[in-house]
Amino acid sequence: MAFIAQDEINKIRSSASIVDVISSYIPLTQRGKNYFGVCPFHEDHSPSMSVSEEKQIYKCFSCGATGNVFTFVENFLNVSFAEAVEIIAKTVGISISMPLSSKKETKFKEEYALMDFVLKIYQNNLNTEVGQRAIAYLKKRGLLEDTIKNFSIGLSLDQNMLYTILSKKEYPEKMLLDLGLINQGKDNLYDVFQNRIMFPIHNLEGEVVGFTARCYLKDETPKYLNTKETYIFKKGSILFNYHRAKEAIRLQKEVIVVEGNMDAIRLYSVGIKNVIALMGTSLTKEQIDALKKLRCNIILMLDNDNAGESATLSIGNILEENNISFSIIRLSGEKDPDEYIIKNGVAAMQENIQNAISFVDFKLNYFKKNKNLNEASDLAEYIKAVIDGLKNTNDAILKEVTLQKLAKDYNISYAILKEQLGDRESKIEKKPEKKEQVIENHQSSYNKVCSKILFYMMHSKDFVKLYQTKLGIFPTKEHRIIANEIVYYLENHKTIDLADFISYSENTNVKNEIMAIICNEKEEILTEEEMLELLEIIKKKIKKEEIKKLKEELKSEYDVNKKLSLLEKIAELKMEIEKEV
Ligand code: CTP
Ligand code: MN
Repeated sequence: MAFIAQDEINKIRSSASIVDVISSYIPLTQRGKNYFGVCPFHEDHSPSMSVSEEKQIYKCFSCGATGNVFTFVENFLNVSFAEAVEIIAKTVGISISMPLSSKKETKFKEEYALMDFVLKIYQNNLNTEVGQRAIAYLKKRGLLEDTIKNFSIGLSLDQNMLYTILSKKEYPEKMLLDLGLINQGKDNLYDVFQNRIMFPIHNLEGEVVGFTARCYLKDETPKYLNTKETYIFKKGSILFNYHRAKEAIRLQKEVIVVEGNMDAIRLYSVGIKNVIALMGTSLTKEQIDALKKLRCNIILMLDNDNAGESATLSIGNILEENNISFSIIRLSGEKDPDEYIIKNGVAAMQENIQNAISFVDFKLNYFKKNKNLNEASDLAEYIKAVIDGLKNTNDAILKEVTLQKLAKDYNISYAILKEQLGDRESKIEKKPEKKEQVIENHQSSYNKVCSKILFYMMHSKDFVKLYQTKLGIFPTKEHRIIANEIVYYLENHKTIDLADFISYSENTNVKNEIMAIICNEKEEILTEEEMLELLEIIKKKIKKEEIKKLKEELKSEYDVNKKLSLLEKIAELKMEIEKEV
């Protein structure tokens, strides 16, 4: 997509003023050459975001958010890159030859079209005679017609009804099998989903990629049957209702995370639209990334059972490790948010949302489970667990208040508690072994040199030339990819423009790394000599790695002549390194 429309994208970007665009969303004040505002991408009250009209980029000194007009709109409005380009195009009055956002999903076009077709079939099945029972079931669960439509809920029938229809349409059998719609039996193909209520599952962009199917005629195991993992349905990277909730989440700067799809449907249908479901009790790396992208507070509201409680602890720990701010709701009485609303109403649910508690407060309660706090050993265990649970909290006040509360509630010396916490914290800091620390330092200084080289390459084509002639390649893949992007960009554009370059890469990871480099490096004037020195450091590193490799080879080599030639090579490399000092 970016390949075809790159020139157009650049034209749109260069016609927009980043100061005008950003100030249409957040207030900016001019200070010297740059403009400043309160960064919308993290909790903040001071103006830590600077916007440069000259460079057409923004940078937040506090959270590290950085980018050009497109990335700002992408993240602020929670839209795709293509949509952001369209929005900016409209504001600068450029009409796009072909709408980008509809072009972007060409990759699995046929698969998505098929899934849409299947969805329509399932929806239509509700209108059949058999469908009446399914509708009765849905109505009994309190789902109104609007909700059934809104969530595109449908029904699968028996007698391989889906396969019969699809085979008439001449869809390739392999695709039907691959997408998890039909199965290969002993001597026939049959529908995977039969006699179940069908809930379509969309990916984060809103394409139907799979189904979760509930039994309704009688209790069956499994209660929910899900589409198997396919190349478009990856359960670990899906959050149920994400695409519908995005807008409400952005407006309310908050997302409620529940376990079950029915919980999400219930909350959404009673007007609490900023809700998504995990479809279970685990949280994957991809889901964390999707949550991070929302840049808002998270409220974790899992089921009111043991599994939900342990999941609150484990997911809470993961969120904390990822520096994501969140709070917790533990419902009481009913089994899950769905039943809670049915029994107690929306207002009661709203009240729970208003009164979400901190993770520390959750743990204060959770660690009491199965303990008799009148017994010294149980109490000691409890206090230790709570203090351990405090170690990852950045909130100094919360730490202090909790310690004071513990001291008061259990009549323990505050000083001892404080010391315990201090002790535990310093243990964490000291954790890395000395040797590992040294390696880590080496690694991080190497990374710093690479970042610096890449940063200046993004600023001047002379530095790119130097890189090509003096180094040619980074030994590490992540740096090599970015360097290649810069080189390709330059080949296509003859000159390098930082703000355009940010939007050039189609790979989100690469894009993020580029932005991290831009944000972390301070811009100073770099001379050619200084650049050469930086390149030398990397060259030396390559040679050292080569020596290491040769030494390994040497260890397992028994042929004397080969050994000698390896030794010779090592000596040569060593000499080269010394000569360059
Ligand atoms: N789940 C699943 N497979 C199962 C059971 C559950 O994939 N056999 C997932 C479903 O996405 C479900 C979620 O885990 O929505 C939570 O499970 P559960 O609490 O048992 O379901 P409920 O949401 O309560 O479903 P219902 O109200 O329809 O009984
Ligand atoms: Mn339920």
